[in-house]
Amino acid sequence: MRSTVRDVREKAGDEPITMLTAYDAVTAEIVDEQGVDVILVGDSIGNTKLGHESTLPVTVDEMASATAAVSRATEDALVVADMPFLSYGHDEKESIENAGRMLKEAGAHAVKLESGPHTVELTERMSQLGIPVMAHLGLTPQRVNQLGYARQGTTEEAAAEMLDLAVAHEEAGAFSLVLEHVPANVAREVTEAVSMPTIGIGAGPHCDGQVLVVDDAVGLSSWTPSFVEEFGDVREAMADAVDGYREAVETGEFPAGEHSHVEDELDDIY
Ligand code: KIV
Ligand code: NA
Repeated sequence: MRSTVRDVREKAGDEPITMLTAYDAVTAEIVDEQGVDVILVGDSIGNTKLGHESTLPVTVDEMASATAAVSRATEDALVVADMPFLSYGHDEKESIENAGRMLKEAGAHAVKLESGPHTVELTERMSQLGIPVMAHLGLTPQRVNQLGYARQGTTEEAAAEMLDLAVAHEEAGAFSLVLEHVPANVAREVTEAVSMPTIGIGAGPHCDGQVLVVDDAVGLSSWTPSFVEEFGDVREAMADAVDGYREAVETGEFPAGEHSHVEDELDDIY
């Protein structure tokens, strides 16, 4: 049965919440079958699938298409759609329409916004309208041009600001909070300060849950950040399979008799 934002909130504190990204049907199906609680259709699709160097070029249409594929392929996981760069935050009407597309058209159950002072009111408005919002603090890759990919919340002032923003987003109605690339002690502090579940990536063990980019977790990426653990080597498995195919075709081993069919009735003619 499909998890709800309430299930996710209730699991927090009992057991760690598990979240992985997915961007396509087959991957989402595997992630769902293994019982991961939340699937994030991340705008990391820009890097992982679309060949961009950052998440900035990702469009609302691309996110809607990927989210729809993930929703169709899953039965149990809560599906959260990331709102891409500049699709929210500048204009309330447009922000809500874009987020609404993820629920109405693509079958998501919630959206994620990279949070800041500018998303407090928007989070409140969306929550009031029935669009559950996952907040995101710490390293927010849509601000790469200002922050780079450096760890965030490393000074007393920055940590205090993160804490204030976490509380403000909880009060605005956010149902959970991603903390990315922040010191473990700061993540613990934030986790203790809010009652919504925190989901960490590169944020240590004290969060209520963990998230990774699925390509990183399964060992498909050519490069991974230091906070990633690769739980498989899918890249090597795929490379071996592709190499095996190429070689079999080049040597004439594939296709073999069992892979093809002769139509006996046509035997006289052909
Ligand atoms: O886009 C993404 O994959 C994310 C997660 C890393 C939280 O935002
Ligand atoms: Na993202």
